[in-house]
Amino acid sequence: MKIISNVEELRNELKSLQKEKGADVKADVKVGLVPTMGALHKGHLSLIEKCRSENEIAVVSIFVNPTQFGPNEDYDKYPRTLEADSKLCEKAGVDIVFAPSPRDIYDEYYFTHKETTLICPPYDVVNKLCGKTRPGHFDGVCTIVGKLFNITKCDRAYFGKKDAQQLFIIKKMVRELNFDIEITGCPIVREEDGLAMSSRNTYLTENARKKALNISRGLYKAKELHKKGVKEADTLTDTALAYMEGLDVEYAEIVSVDTFEKIDIIEKDPKSKESTAIMLVAAKVNSENSTVRLIDNIDL
Ligand code: PAF
Repeated sequence: MKIISNVEELRNELKSLQKEKGADVKADVKVGLVPTMGALHKGHLSLIEKCRSENEIAVVSIFVNPTQFGPNEDYDKYPRTLEADSKLCEKAGVDIVFAPSPRDIYDEYYFTHKETTLICPPYDVVNKLCGKTRPGHFDGVCTIVGKLFNITKCDRAYFGKKDAQQLFIIKKMVRELNFDIEITGCPIVREEDGLAMSSRNTYLTENARKKALNISRGLYKAKELHKKGVKEADTLTDTALAYMEGLDVEYAEIVSVDTFEKIDIIEKDPKSKESTAIMLVAAKVNSENSTVRLIDNIDL
């Protein structure tokens, strides 16, 4: 496995790997990419395993992307654990870890003017849910993801369903900007007690973790109620919210899986097992002297 920070070096390595692997399998050599910000956990590993199993070349990018963090967010303190991450990637059979610095990724202009060319999805999809309190966040995400797609020329890319709005927006960007890339969303991986895996869980004290657990408890309770026939979104969100006392809930909403627009009544073809709606929550938990913002969701 190679750890590469430079874009040109990455491109050269990909070319030689493609030649090498193409000679082996005498077939199309597919490149799979798992974009991450590092601090890898089992959720990331599930994406990496899927990527490894479906592609001849598996690339994991590790980059804490400054353009997707707001001025008062945790960019500086975001966990950076490249050594441990690289070991996990090596064990998982990754071919290349791409771990650039901001200067490897952004042009000099960005550092002098604090601006760069951005990919900006439509206002209506980015300025709700997470985007409402994180203005510019999804522009930063789409910009870095678009850049990573161009840098790696990947055929397939893998994202976690925990960041459901992000996955929805990336699929939309790929469709609307004609990226020839297959996007796969992978299921949320949870701790045994239900807490969704997140790099930000490392910020939680034991007490804060206990409170954070009420997010998934609330979501599961809402799903249970929906299974019993409750279709009204307000009743289901109120049920989930009742579990989240002591948390600063930013939003708890039910949206259509197809449009990500808010829905009031969950309609479903009784014969279909497919979910038509998803309940999403973002909440802040006090943990020692800081607050930790967590997100989670469940298909209904
Ligand atoms: O989900 C993340 O970790 C990030 O938003 C991503 C997709 C790697 C872009 O920086």
